[in-house]
Formats: sequence, structure tokens, C-alpha cells
Amino acid sequence: MNATPRTLSDAEKRTLYRDGYIILKGAVAPDLVETALRRIKAAKKGEHLGTTPEMTNLVNESDVTPVLHEAMGQFDPPTNCQVAVNKARPPGDYFNNLGYRDRDMPYYGAESHMDGLCTIGVPQTVQEGTPDEIYLRHISSGPKGDLGRHPEVIGHNTVPLFQDPEMTLGMGSFTAFVFVCLNDQTREGCGQTSLLKGAHHATEKFLQWQRETNGHMGPEGPGWPRINFDAPNRCGHVYLPESVREQFLDDDSETTPDGKRWPRPTQALMEPGDACITVFHMPHSGTRNEHGTESRKNMIFRIRNKKRQPGHVVSGVTDHPDRGSMGAWLEYEEGNDPWERSRDALCNQWEEWEGMSRIVAEEWAAAIT
Ligand SMILES: [Fe+2]
Repeated sequence: MNATPRTLSDAEKRTLYRDGYIILKGAVAPDLVETALRRIKAAKKGEHLGTTPEMTNLVNESDVTPVLHEAMGQFDPPTNCQVAVNKARPPGDYFNNLGYRDRDMPYYGAESHMDGLCTIGVPQTVQEGTPDEIYLRHISSGPKGDLGRHPEVIGHNTVPLFQDPEMTLGMGSFTAFVFVCLNDQTREGCGQTSLLKGAHHATEKFLQWQRETNGHMGPEGPGWPRINFDAPNRCGHVYLPESVREQFLDDDSETTPDGKRWPRPTQALMEPGDACITVFHMPHSGTRNEHGTESRKNMIFRIRNKKRQPGHVVSGVTDHPDRGSMGAWLEYEEGNDPWERSRDALCNQWEEWEGMSRIVAEEWAAAIT
């Protein structure tokens, strides 16, 4: 055991501030990695491993916890995580969540998105009808059936269409992602997580603008339609507002066959035991494991600063902790408006990174001088 817990240096915090993420080399000790891999190998078909101590210890017993405690603040030790094991496979013909053929999508099929968004499986046939007809057909095809445009609607990813009863907050939120790498992902095209470096500043600014404009935030707020009716299947999700996407296009951007350009993400190249920590606002995506010789194995944790809702325990897997499983409504005491707290967090991401405040203040001061 190290006597002094690992923390981020000032230089690492500056990287986290500027890029929106940092890769912690060897954050998880080899014996924890080995134990997790053995458990994955021993899994029964269909077994969910996210709640096993072998997976949750990757955060709870590793350097990730002291690093986050110092840089971010207190949080519930995760009791669950997303098991992201992706088999090696060739490009597919199916329509991805953006409504494009998987094989046509650049950067190994990256679908850069913010988390907390409702995803209903997109139609696999080209849609006909008016945009309104396509929209209503789409939202009625979720797991709860046809409820119309309603806050009870949830996606196949179980995220509600809107978080709040008034349908003015179209996204869930938390504070930090942790991607723990369990296999060799040092070459591109092995299914690694991809990140839109620096775009966390742009998404935050966009959300501030939405709030100022009319208080409606996320998809279906200003500047962010939920559905792209111009996608090849005429019903693709808009996972990033166009005005954010545009800021990251350059001569290096690759295109889909319709001529649309897509921002080039950075592939998070990691070795077993490395962990990537990002802010919630970071657009990201898994990618296709096209060249891998084994399945890509990442455990994904979603961490919320305890001060957002001290009375509620979060598991570490949900991206919309203001609501319960399958969209259940949670109890909040008098005067505690969870939607307003989340709007505040969406508009000021560093507020929940308590150990970053000096670095953030220095970066802001440097930006105006
Ligand atoms: Fe995601």
C-alpha cells in the first residue's frame, strides 16, 4: 500500500481542464486487473458482472478513488458499472443511432454524444411521412409503447425522453466518467473509447445559452432538435447540437457519403490498468473493434458529486440519477428541486470539481489577460 494516496498534479489538472479528460497510467493495480479478467472469463452467458466486487473494486480499491476524492469531492462508492465488452467485428450494414450505415461512419463508427440522452432504437428501414409523423412513430416505439410526447416515455437505454414533468430538461447528468481499461487498446481500431478533445467547454457554453434563451435544455431545447430527418434512414438521433459539432470540423474531418463532415475524435489509447477520467460534458463514443484480436474490455463508471443530492445514493452506472430505474420518480424533500440543481451543474461543470477550483480560476484569469 502506498502511504500517500495518489492525487493529480497541477499539470494533470490543467490537462483535465483544457482537454476534458486525463488518462491515469497504471491507476489500477495488476492484481485487480487480473481478478477482474478472471471473473469475466468465468461469467455465465448473459450474466451481468457490473455489480460484482471484482468490477467495482476497479474504482473502489484503486488509485481512481483518491484521485477523484481530491480533484472532484465525495461520491458514493460505485456498486454497479457498465460492462463494455465489444467483440471484434467487421463494419456493419445496419443503421446506427445517428441514422447512418455503420460502415459509412468515419473513425471506426464513432457516434460522439453526450450522456444522459434518451435513445430509442432507430428504424432499420428508411422512414416515410412528415417529420411530425416520423417523430411520433419513433417515440411510440420505445419500451413503454405509445404514450405520445410524455415525461413517462423512456428509451431502450432506459433514459427518460425528458427528466422533468414539465418536459423542459431533455438530459440526465452526473459529474465524472471513469473508463477502466482491461485489455490492450494501444492501437486504433480496437474498440476504444473516443473523445472529442476540448469539446466540454463548447457543450457547457451551449447549455448555458439554451438556459438563457428559454430555459429548455438538451434535445428539443433551442438549437438542438432530437431527430435528424435528413439522415439516411430519415430518423437519426442528434447526439450533439450542430453548433457544437461545427466548432470541431476542419480540413482533417472525414465525411459520410452524403457529404456531411464529422469531427475527428481522439482515440483513448490505453493499456490494462489505465483509467481515463473525463468530465460529464465530454462528448465521447465507443468505437468499432475492427482490428482487435480479442474483445475490447472497458468498465465504465458514472460518478456524481455527492453534494448534488446528498440524500440519494447513486449506483455508478446510471447517466440520469435524478430519476429511478425505468424512469421512476424519486422523492425529494420540500425545497429541493432536482431539475434546477442539474441545470446549474450543466451550466457550470467545475462547480462539482472541488479540487479543481484554483486551477480553473487560474485558467480563467489567463484567458482574459
Ligand atoms: Fe455514452
